[in-house]
Amino acid sequence: MRLSRYFLPVLKETPAEAQIVSHRLMLRAGMIKQASAGIYSWLPLGYRVLKRIEQVVHEEQQRAGHIPVLMPTLQSADLWQESGRYDAYGDELLRIRDRHDRDMLYGPTNEEMITDIFRSYVSSYKALPLTLYHIQWKFRDEVRPRFGVMRGREFLMKDGYNFDLTKEDALHAYNRHLVTYLRTYERLGLQAIPMRADSGPIGGDDTHEFLVLAETGESEVFYDAEITDLKFGDRAIDYDSVDQCRAVLEEFTSRYARTDETHDPALFDKVPAERQRVARGIEVGQIFYFGTKYSEAMGATVQGPDGKPVPVHMGSHGIGVSRLVGAIIEASHDDKGIIWPEGVTPFACGIVNLRQGDDAADAACEQLYGALAAIGLEALYDDRDERAGAKFATMDLIGLPWRITVGPRGLKNGVVELTSRRTGESEELAPEAAIRKLADIYAPHLGAARA
Ligand SMILES: Nc1ncnc2c1ncn2[C@@H]1O[C@H](COP(=O)(O)OP(=O)(O)OP(=O)(O)O)[C@@H](O)[C@H]1O
Ligand SMILES: [Mg+2]
Repeated sequence: MRLSRYFLPVLKETPAEAQIVSHRLMLRAGMIKQASAGIYSWLPLGYRVLKRIEQVVHEEQQRAGHIPVLMPTLQSADLWQESGRYDAYGDELLRIRDRHDRDMLYGPTNEEMITDIFRSYVSSYKALPLTLYHIQWKFRDEVRPRFGVMRGREFLMKDGYNFDLTKEDALHAYNRHLVTYLRTYERLGLQAIPMRADSGPIGGDDTHEFLVLAETGESEVFYDAEITDLKFGDRAIDYDSVDQCRAVLEEFTSRYARTDETHDPALFDKVPAERQRVARGIEVGQIFYFGTKYSEAMGATVQGPDGKPVPVHMGSHGIGVSRLVGAIIEASHDDKGIIWPEGVTPFACGIVNLRQGDDAADAACEQLYGALAAIGLEALYDDRDERAGAKFATMDLIGLPWRITVGPRGLKNGVVELTSRRTGESEELAPEAAIRKLADIYAPHLGAARA
């Protein structure tokens, strides 16, 4: 993308309404525009990040055998009356009436609708196990939408639903989701800690929330410092293996880690004092096992091996896709702007031409741009006729992890400059060497998606 032809409405001023750094930076970097309270338009740069996160979520869900679908945002109230949540959900549920006086709602979650799909088509245990998921906009009429996309009213969520014959199988699905989430967050450049949580209006006993530590987080969290040393990394895992998935769950949840809702001071006191941590965190996902709550209420039964009908065991599993954009920025920024992890960056690198209009500099930039595209890396080329300082400031603000700076002086010596946004370190090297280096850096992130 050439910046002269892009739509990147960066702001010079710091918007007064934004209370936290991610909201400020998303507005300043021209990523979002508020449409009304808690409802945002995603401008090109923000949209690219959102799509990258979605892509990673899709890849990790499908790696575990979960199947994507797409359900509508608007739902009929009938299904919610069947489950009993139409009245129970409260004021966060946006109720709508259509022209035929039918009660509708803008879905805050999809347990009812997916259970209806399931019961319409599945009648035998032989179709199990089954996990369906989608990434779709949700609406919750939050009393206090705030912090930009972190607590919106309309927000993008991945929600997945497992259907299993037995509780044991459904707990395997739960553990399997925990593994997929650990991998997903790490690919997004985040550490998200699974913490024992409260189930709220979804219902159920077993539930973990995933929290990213950040001062601006809305939840107070209590944990054993050892937990932050855990890394999922690049391990191979067989998602069908009950033992392997359970072992990961045990590894990542055996130490004390709870939110304020479930915090137990007596248990916490058993953690050695020097390892006790009290901090704040951003909830970026949650997994639930809720058994037969919806299947019984809505008649989602299958014929078991003995021919008798049994209600299926279910769970639901959510990732806050749009909230993650803010959470990543909270976890990765400095006083100049955003610092995108390679896994989600909107462009692989920026190219800054120090002397637009200089034949050699223009040609070198074009060549770099093309060579990067040829290996599947999209660059954002600042080809505007602007001062170098302004170009650097824009690049720092929008946070591309790598920048190649091209100027006539360097080119005379056959070099360009490659700069890391994170460390600020620069090195001079031949253009081909810069490309080779970026190819290596992005190799782990070059899935089918980016090519
Ligand atoms: N208002 C919101 N704005 C943006 N993301 C949200 C919002 N509400 C929930 N999410 C995201 O969707 C994920 C799954 O939804 P879930 O039903 O667990 O939310 P929740 O527990 O009600 O969230 P919270 O406690 O933050 O209100 C959450 O972990 C969070 O990342
Ligand atoms: Mg939650």
